[in-house]
Amino acid sequence: MATSSAPDAGAKLAEKAEVRDYFNSTGFERWKRIYSDSDDVNKVQRNIRLGHQKTVDQVLQWLQEEGDLPGRSFCDAGCGVGSLSLPLAQLGAGSIAASDLSEAMVEEARRRLEASGLAAERVQFSASDLESLQGRYDTVVCLDVFIHYPQAAAEEMVRHLGGLAERRLIVSFAPYTPLLALLKSIGQLFPGPSKTTRAYTLREDGIVAAAAEAGFRPRRRSLNQAPFYFSRLIEFERG
Ligand SMILES: C[S@@+](CC[C@H](N)C(=O)[O-])C[C@H]1O[C@@H](n2cnc3c(N)ncnc32)[C@H](O)[C@@H]1O
Repeated sequence: MATSSAPDAGAKLAEKAEVRDYFNSTGFERWKRIYSDSDDVNKVQRNIRLGHQKTVDQVLQWLQEEGDLPGRSFCDAGCGVGSLSLPLAQLGAGSIAASDLSEAMVEEARRRLEASGLAAERVQFSASDLESLQGRYDTVVCLDVFIHYPQAAAEEMVRHLGGLAERRLIVSFAPYTPLLALLKSIGQLFPGPSKTTRAYTLREDGIVAAAAEAGFRPRRRSLNQAPFYFSRLIEFERG
């Protein structure tokens, strides 16, 4: 069951190790297929794919509307298999640093970069957790990663990522709603029988307040949905 209380440091580390293990094993196999055009997915997984694609497409649209992609630097925090970074590189983004907790996801992202025919240096993929990210980027994006963060930790992470962003911060997360709160277990958002990680819904006002503490205000929002997928996307700008 999702909770919003902040676990202690030991529990946080244990939960992160669990998430890493999951995305290096059964989770890797599952999400690699969801984030692909493979037919080897069930109905739930296909719907999650559709919903996630809406989120990625919305971000790409916002970034293109902003213009000057070649002049901007991007950080794709928790990049998975590169579902955002690869099309962003195709669109000509200046530099992209993309990282993920899971070595397997990063390895798959590198493989897809190579298969795409793009030059290897167009995206710098690395294995790293969000907490270790450093540097300064024009835009920091973190999509569908906060599902693994309880409220207080997610807010802390928004402040951290905001500190890396010069101009813009874009995050998506499963929003807390009374309807979702009624679900017995938010694990129902995960496909298939193996729900080996906990999942958290987040209160949007807390995320917005954390971004404000880092100097950002909301500019645009969207709610991207499909059956079994429900994700609030917010673009924050400095000021
Ligand atoms: C649902 S996938 C989303 C991937 C990608 N952002 C996308 O939208 O395609 C969640 C990803 O978050 C990564 N992740 C989970 N906890 C993380 C952490 N603490 N630091 C970095 N990545 C993390 C997982 O390994 C997984 O690849």
